[in-house]
Amino acid sequence: MKTTTILTLLGGLSSTTANTIPTSKGGKHQKPIHPSPPHHSPISSIPPIGLGLWNSKDKDATHAILSAFTHNYTHLDGAAAYSNEEYVGLALTNKTSPPRHTYWLTSKLWNTMHKPENVPVGFNKTLSELNTTYLDLYLMHWPVAFLPDKGGRSVIDQDTSITDTWKAMETLASAYKASSGAYGARHIGVSNFSPRQLDQIMKMCTICPYAHEFETHPYLQQQEFVNWHHEHDIKVIAYSPLANINPTYKDVMPELKPILEDPFWEAVAKKKNCTVAQAVLGWGVARDTIVIPKSVHEKRIAENIGSMEVSFTEGELEEINKEDKKVRFNNPSKDWGVDLFEGLDAGSNRFLMADGEL
Ligand SMILES: NC(=O)c1ccc[n+]([C@@H]2O[C@H](COP(=O)([O-])OP(=O)(O)OC[C@H]3O[C@@H](n4cnc5c(N)ncnc54)[C@H](OP(=O)(O)O)[C@@H]3O)[C@@H](O)[C@H]2O)c1
Repeated sequence: MKTTTILTLLGGLSSTTANTIPTSKGGKHQKPIHPSPPHHSPISSIPPIGLGLWNSKDKDATHAILSAFTHNYTHLDGAAAYSNEEYVGLALTNKTSPPRHTYWLTSKLWNTMHKPENVPVGFNKTLSELNTTYLDLYLMHWPVAFLPDKGGRSVIDQDTSITDTWKAMETLASAYKASSGAYGARHIGVSNFSPRQLDQIMKMCTICPYAHEFETHPYLQQQEFVNWHHEHDIKVIAYSPLANINPTYKDVMPELKPILEDPFWEAVAKKKNCTVAQAVLGWGVARDTIVIPKSVHEKRIAENIGSMEVSFTEGELEEINKEDKKVRFNNPSKDWGVDLFEGLDAGSNRFLMADGEL
């Protein structure tokens, strides 16, 4: 689709916004991505497994996606903050890659783009780098607004609320509908929200969250929170589904062995005749969460999708429940000077304590 067509479809968005659609750096993307012609329906709902893209650097991201397509992945989990969207775009426009409407593409709005007028700017930059005209899912990456352009420093924007940002995201979802899927966000959702923050969105939304992406794995199960989402028809996307094996987390609880060496999980894998990674991911899917393991190694990418073959009985799920360690590995509260995950396991309990509930 030509940029001019996209601009027309932007409709209600301001002309300043429309004019800010960037072009890809260095003209790397010569070929337009296969657009989704209206007669081609996109896949009906978010696939249970996707390829995570955090920490997949440059060409590693491109190669990982090409491998994932070879091994029948139909779901990619990216974000502007992963600084690799141009490399993701290169994979999507590769001549061997499947047509756009046959896979699910998620990206996320970064904290510096929360001001309503910046939301379409961030969205369009992502579209341009990915070389696509729509996303299947666009998430608010964190319930935290930063002031833009502070030279790498994170300064909280006190004047922009999560509901302001949500309203602007709804415009992107409306644009998708108005253009019959040619441009916009097919679904919108949130990430890293507390129950209180979710409640704020649920009270005001016209288009309500399709999904919530947050950290959950055998060591941080949050089963009640997961159940709440299912009761409210919100999909749960489980990030860091392999718990503590992301090297970024190595200092959080160094005394805890990597989950792939946990005797409990080794025994589960042995019983199921699968690898430990497959058992852990298979459990994530069995509890109705969507798992998005990251790997840049083809062998592991193939191994991880093998988890779709692993099933669990109710009794086994109950046993695994008892193995919860309630350890959160991804919590930037201190760095950012905000209280995140209020009321959740290993989150902030400031308000609960103030209410005398502890
Ligand atoms: N919304 C958010 O705020 C948020 C936060 C965190 C993560 N996420 C999303 O969730 C995705 C997954 O989470 P994550 O990257 O934190 O962690 P993860 O997928 O649980 O683990 C990734 C680590 O495991 C290794 N690995 C993958 N498969 C393996 C296997 N079969 N055997 C041995 N090692 C294996 C990878 O190494 P190699 O790459 O070297 O194979 C990598 O170091 C992210 O990539 C991102 O898309 C979202």
